[in-house]
Amino acid sequence: MKLTLKIWRQKNPDQKGKLVDYNLNDVNPDDSFLEMLDTLNYELIVKGENPVAFDHDCREGICGMCSLFINGRPHGPDRGIATCQLHMRRFKDGDTVYIEPFRARAFPVIKDLVVDRSAFDRIQQAGGYISVNTSGNPQDANTVPIEKTVADAAFDSATCIGCGACVAACKNASAMLFVSAKISQLALLPQGEVEAKSRVANMVKQMDEEGFGNCTNTGACEIECPKEISLENIARMNREYLKAGVKG
Ligand code: SF4
Ligand code: FES
Repeated sequence: MKLTLKIWRQKNPDQKGKLVDYNLNDVNPDDSFLEMLDTLNYELIVKGENPVAFDHDCREGICGMCSLFINGRPHGPDRGIATCQLHMRRFKDGDTVYIEPFRARAFPVIKDLVVDRSAFDRIQQAGGYISVNTSGNPQDANTVPIEKTVADAAFDSATCIGCGACVAACKNASAMLFVSAKISQLALLPQGEVEAKSRVANMVKQMDEEGFGNCTNTGACEIECPKEISLENIARMNREYLKAGVKG
């Protein structure tokens, strides 16, 4: 396939960026989107030009590092996958593909398509640890029976890979889907009950301090999330936050 790529190039956080055109004349439809960018970078390096900086690690939908805004959508046109799981057969010969970084005030661009998502790390750190000892002396799982539907809901929340697509998709750059998933994975389980109040209060406070916007129930986050994290998590987080605010 022949493709025209319009890629956001930005030298560093302090300089203005712009879209730059590149042409690829022999794209393999079976390549992944990141392999297509590898091919472009190989060509740029051979020509003595700067390769395009982009984030990636596992390349199998697990780590949450890949974070491209493709034709106006985080992780591209398909639902339920990360950028690394997108394949070039999803595009047509002659297509023009716009590739930009995730955009949000709390995710400043470091270079080209790489953004700084350490705000997510600080929110998780603010949540702290659980005090239940789970290392070296694990309880038999059956000693704490947990209803299957509850265990499944906690597991679904825990599948959030922290990619930030929810923020990039949201007109308010809200991080509430991410934060609510991280709160829910513990709030649903007895092991998370001890610190439940301080966890939700501290994580929401940190989320606000990082400059993320608020949720106005648009739902774009759920649609663009590669792990299809449900909006129900946001409702649960709001209930947990209200409970944490009740004294006594
Ligand atoms: S909720 Fe979904 S979109 Fe948001 S960080 Fe987690 S996996 Fe990514
Ligand atoms: S590179 Fe790990 S999720 Fe895409």
